[in-house]
Amino acid sequence: MRVRKAVIPAAGMGTRFLPLTKASPKELLPLLNRPVIHAVVEEATGSGVGSIILITGMGKNAVEDYFDISPHLERTLKEAGKDDLLREVAGASRMVDVVSVRQKEQKGLGHAVLCAREAVGEEPFAVLLPDDVFQSKRPCIGQLLDPFERFGKTVIALQEVPTSTVHRYGIIDGEEIEPNVYRIKRLVEKPSPEDAPSNLAAVGRYILPPETFRVLDSLEPGAGGEIQLTDALDRMAGESEVYGLVIEGTRHDMGNIMGFLTANIEFALADEELGPMLRAYLARIEGRQ
Ligand code: UTP
Repeated sequence: MRVRKAVIPAAGMGTRFLPLTKASPKELLPLLNRPVIHAVVEEATGSGVGSIILITGMGKNAVEDYFDISPHLERTLKEAGKDDLLREVAGASRMVDVVSVRQKEQKGLGHAVLCAREAVGEEPFAVLLPDDVFQSKRPCIGQLLDPFERFGKTVIALQEVPTSTVHRYGIIDGEEIEPNVYRIKRLVEKPSPEDAPSNLAAVGRYILPPETFRVLDSLEPGAGGEIQLTDALDRMAGESEVYGLVIEGTRHDMGNIMGFLTANIEFALADEELGPMLRAYLARIEGRQ
């Protein structure tokens, strides 16, 4: 069955980015001149997943506004002959069909996904966490669609992480059944390095079947007192089949300051106009040390 809908959970409090997130949603942090949520939506639409369900909460109105049409701004840009900017602004509001659903209490990522139940209905769907942005030849969610089409089962994105950081992720225990594809036996949320079954972490992109909602609905709070998507996947790995694909590309975690910096530096270096200027600047400050 074709994956048509993407759920983007954006209701988290973003404590790692306080005090900025006190007044501004982290989904609007800049990735060059666009907010990071723009890149994530583009990743979904670029992979043919054209219907977006945004999970928002208190203080996130600006994220919804970003995808609205701004007639006044568009008129002003048109009158000023600023066609490039007009294309950019109009493109953001018309790129996609966005429906938003409110998560009224921040009870965890699993709970945020469960809020999309009505909007998704009985069909497979993608989940993209806007904290994670990828630089890859092929959009990350598009890479997951291949194994999903072959197996017709849950597929999640994996990346190897250093042992010292496993406590930040959902970590898998699985068997490699073909190059870079794992059949997952179980998942553990935020394990200590001693308890981690591997170094392979779930990294913010998932293709899930509608059964996920029934499992999430039956879960008790897990790590951190939150309803964890990892716990639902662990249950599904025991009852059905869950696959993991080690994805190709570089990931930046925009939810923390270092990831925000590396993402902007790497995207700027890859940009035709900014790249040479940034390289020259970096060479200059290197000489200063
Ligand atoms: P995080 O674990 O990064 O939590 O959420 P957070 O609150 O956003 O950020 P920190 O850790 O406090 O800095 C992973 C994803 O799940 C969403 C977040 O918006 C983010 O995209 N989320 C998390 C929700 O939508 N609702 C929740 O209750 C929790």
